[in-house]
Amino acid sequence: MTEKKLRIVLMGPQGSGKGTQAQLLGDYYHLPYISTGDMFRQAVKEQTELGKKIKDLLDKGELVPDELTNALVAERLSQPDCQAGFILDGFPRNLSQAEFLLDNFDIDFVFEIDISDDEAVKRISGRRVCDCGMTYHIIYNPPQKEGICDRCGGQLKVRSDDQEEAVRRRLQIYHEQTAKMIPFFQTKGIFYHINGEQPIEAVNKDIVKIITEHGFDKN
Ligand code: AP5
Ligand code: MG
Ligand code: ZN
Repeated sequence: MTEKKLRIVLMGPQGSGKGTQAQLLGDYYHLPYISTGDMFRQAVKEQTELGKKIKDLLDKGELVPDELTNALVAERLSQPDCQAGFILDGFPRNLSQAEFLLDNFDIDFVFEIDISDDEAVKRISGRRVCDCGMTYHIIYNPPQKEGICDRCGGQLKVRSDDQEEAVRRRLQIYHEQTAKMIPFFQTKGIFYHINGEQPIEAVNKDIVKIITEHGFDKN
């Protein structure tokens, strides 16, 4: 076990590889990987009260209101499996969420995985996902058997918000709201920029290198 807690935030435009890298880091450091997007999609699928409230927002690419999002994350991070650390994917996404997070939890690293909008659109158009949480790309990261998840054998599909209009809206929100968190994290000394336009393994290596340089070991 690493002695130090390791608490990571991954931010980056749509398709930059937050989910892909969170999965790899979670496996490597044996930490839970928490994606607000996945939690919201699960709520929609199960038609919970929350799910019914947010379905339209998700399909349009709009943000879920901060009160709902902050409460969901705070509840999740207080669970026992998060006590040794965690990897947050897609939260926080605006300044008010960032302030809420740092007021209530300690964070060691914020990595911005950066790609251009053109690359984002290319990545998202080839993305295929499984209900178990795995993400693939038909060219860059294909499953062993076409259309079938390597991990669970499930049927792969296109995410319902991966439609051109919603993707454009999500990118616009990223530039208008999410990127505005960067100076805030810089003042806290926890912000690191990562070039996301490299192969998946190279992006992973860059992130692990920074974590290791700060004295965090693998579990
Ligand atoms: P969310 O699910 O977080 O979506 P997103 O931010 O749009 O990001 P994506 O999941 O599309 O991209 P990713 O960076 O995870 O990329 P991936 O690894 O899949 O949020 C969805 C919605 O939920 C929001 O629009 C909002 O409505 C709501 N929401 C979520 N959080 C919220 C919050 N905090 N507040 C309010 N609302 C919130 O990779 C993409 C593709 O590229 C894959 O096919 C992958 O295989 C491939 N790929 C990955 N890395 C590489 C690489 N290096 N080279 C080549 N291909 C790669
Ligand atoms: Mg994702
Ligand atoms: Zn699966």
